[in-house]
Amino acid sequence: MSNHRASQFELLHRHYPLATNQIELSPLALDALDDGTLDQAQALGLRPMVWSPLAGGRLFSGKEPRTVRVREEMSSIAARLGVSLATLAYAWVLRHPSRPHPITGTGRIEGLAEAVAALSLPLEAEDWYAIWTASQGHPVP
Ligand SMILES: NC(=O)c1ccc[n+]([C@@H]2O[C@H](COP(=O)([O-])OP(=O)(O)OC[C@H]3O[C@@H](n4cnc5c(N)ncnc54)[C@H](OP(=O)(O)O)[C@@H]3O)[C@@H](O)[C@H]2O)c1
Repeated sequence: MSNHRASQFELLHRHYPLATNQIELSPLALDALDDGTLDQAQALGLRPMVWSPLAGGRLFSGKEPRTVRVREEMSSIAARLGVSLATLAYAWVLRHPSRPHPITGTGRIEGLAEAVAALSLPLEAEDWYAIWTASQGHPVP
């Protein structure tokens, strides 16, 4: 299933046991964190698949103020941790307790290596929330 709201997933899952919901999640796409989608995945123990974990590449080149803000915050954290921006983005997705499977869209071997590197990058909650905050534009309420 792809991009199903929690209510749609719940209804279908009742009749046809589903394995996963493929949803968007990245430092620039936070909806699934708050709309019940990831809560449901976690509650059912069905690991979500995550598309556009790098926001389709916008993370690296987007010019919108929000994107620039997120990139600056992430670049500073990535430099401190000694990893690339892409690796930090994958690690940010992987840190969610629903244990997502990110789907990379890179066409480069080095891009795949940056994804794999995230598997061994445990991200502190403080860094995770700093990225969330930069994206949201305000601190945790
Ligand atoms: N279910 C749905 O509604 C839905 C919607 C969209 C996508 N998808 C699926 O999810 C997959 C992944 O989505 P996506 O392609 O948007 O994923 P993504 O991994 O967020 O973005 C991939 C893009 O980021 C670029 N990129 C990666 N590393 C970079 C770097 N260090 N610097 C600059 N650019 C970089 C890639 O270019 P390079 O190739 O040069 O690395 C590529 O153009 C798709 O292939 C598709 O199967 C599903």
